Amino acid sequence: MKKYTSVHDVADVNELVKEALHLKENPYNYKKLGENKTLGLIFLNPSLRTRLSTQKAGQNLGMNVMVMNLDKEGWALETQDGAIMNGTTVEHIKEAAAVMGEYCNIIGIRSFPKLQDREEDYSEDLLNKFISYANVPVVSLESATRHPLQSLADLVTITEQKPAGKRTKVVLTWAPHVKAIPQCVANSFAEWMQQADVELVITNPEGYDLADEFTKGATVLHNQDEALKDADFVYVKNWSSYEQYGKVLTDGEGWMMTNEKLALTNNAKVMHCLPVRRNVELSDEILDGPNSLVLEQAINRTFAAQAVLKRMLESLN
Ligand code: CP
Repeated sequence: MKKYTSVHDVADVNELVKEALHLKENPYNYKKLGENKTLGLIFLNPSLRTRLSTQKAGQNLGMNVMVMNLDKEGWALETQDGAIMNGTTVEHIKEAAAVMGEYCNIIGIRSFPKLQDREEDYSEDLLNKFISYANVPVVSLESATRHPLQSLADLVTITEQKPAGKRTKVVLTWAPHVKAIPQCVANSFAEWMQQADVELVITNPEGYDLADEFTKGATVLHNQDEALKDADFVYVKNWSSYEQYGKVLTDGEGWMMTNEKLALTNNAKVMHCLPVRRNVELSDEILDGPNSLVLEQAINRTFAAQAVLKRMLESLN
């Protein structure tokens, strides 16, 4: 595997899920694979889970791991081709990525969207340029449009927990938030669920429909109660508007996931990628109750990352 930026970089999703589950049972079986290999994790935005789980995944595979908060510790990065760099940017991505590629065998990078210009964000300019200039395999640690390591961990969690003997219904529901949040987790989850053996229903208020390229094939409902009916899994996430790009259009009253809403489902397991705003997106009663899978998802982040890194290491050797 030369890059991991979306589900489209995965030849066989089921095999990758099986690999992650195998690694969960045998985390240290491949220590030799990463011996004398270096993983560089580059962050342009904050992180708890992605940073620590991917670091742990690399270490489980015997890799040396370097982490850099490039936004705070690095030089201000220029990404425009042909830029006259007489302003605030100090280093062009051409040199920065190439140099990091010389120090590392695999690089992970996190870069959130600015939520100002939809075309610019959805072009994934920074991630694509990084891949072009780094000259080593690159794994997305969350980009402007997707969060593929989170989505793989989510699919692993659903695979572990899904009820036997019936078609699994998964509902992705929009939730309220206090600020504008990217669409990437929701986009990515929708894209991955369409590759899985589940029925996907997406529910959000009017004005919050995700881009067709991610939701094509799923049912989209603007009535949350109708969508939640008979759900086996409810994935809770806020996102800002794609249509009125980056805007918050409503305070979302009545959209928070509560036990009352849970009663509409098939005693659904409730998921969230974290961090979560308690009693805004999800109620305490759900997060602290028996239906919450948020810790299971976070645990599986390590083995999702380990499965991807293992494939990349195998392509190096
Ligand atoms: N879910 C997730 O990506 O968490 P972090 O932002 O803390 O890495």
